[in-house]
Amino acid sequence: MTPIGIFDSGYGGLTILRQIRQLMPQYDYLYLGDNARAPYGTRSFEVVYEFTLQAVKRLFQEGCPLVILACNTASAKALRSIQQNDLPGIDPSRRVLGVVRPTAEIVGEMTKTKHIGIFATPGTVRSNTYELEIAKLHPKLKVTGVACPMWVPLVENNEAHLPGADYFVKKKAEELLAADPLIDTVILGCTHYPILLEKIKEFMPQGINIIPQGKYVADSLQNYLHRHPDMQQRLSQNGTLHLLTTEQPSQFNENASIFLNNPVEAQRIILQ
Ligand code: DGL
Repeated sequence: MTPIGIFDSGYGGLTILRQIRQLMPQYDYLYLGDNARAPYGTRSFEVVYEFTLQAVKRLFQEGCPLVILACNTASAKALRSIQQNDLPGIDPSRRVLGVVRPTAEIVGEMTKTKHIGIFATPGTVRSNTYELEIAKLHPKLKVTGVACPMWVPLVENNEAHLPGADYFVKKKAEELLAADPLIDTVILGCTHYPILLEKIKEFMPQGINIIPQGKYVADSLQNYLHRHPDMQQRLSQNGTLHLLTTEQPSQFNENASIFLNNPVEAQRIILQ
């Protein structure tokens, strides 16, 4: 089996996996959530890089020729180093792709005011990766990022739909609009945040476009595979999904089943 590897610090990447599988159900997928060490968003560059590299190596060992970092924090803080410094030594024929670039590509068409907002983890916001990627592609856009350190813990602890989450969502929605009232398009720049989508919509004025990235990452992957038939042919196609987590599987299974609308059975692994 040579599945597509999908990695996230926890449950968030399942929002990306779901969209990718919807578009390309024929491939085999291996999901890895580092739930025991989530969240990554408040960790240093070095630690996010180290954890992400461990995960990528593990997914390679499991046979994945291609790994998607379905995590903005890992894409922002580790992707480039892994692509440029590690991959040539590990196996130059394998590929690691992220989620920031496919998202940056599509924002140009979405905004009328040319003012974009980003909700993301502190790590992603501090890295300025979205600003840099968007500036390369759409130099006229004004980008404002707001870090939401409490949002991932709300999702990881299954608190996202409870009234307690309202306070944290409202606070950040107000902060973003106070920073730039002309924003008409907001990117959810963390793969956990689509779980909070309904709440985010509740606290943002109507007419503001809130964009989860899953669909665009899936479209971009499909496009990538069309352009790289050598990689496409290496991927096995039995339509299977296997899940790995660094936490105890019972809790993961329960939460992941809700995300994926199907009962799942994850296996626990230790990353090092
Ligand atoms: N879901 C991840 C992201 O897209 C990471 C969240 C975290 O672990 O802080 O940024």
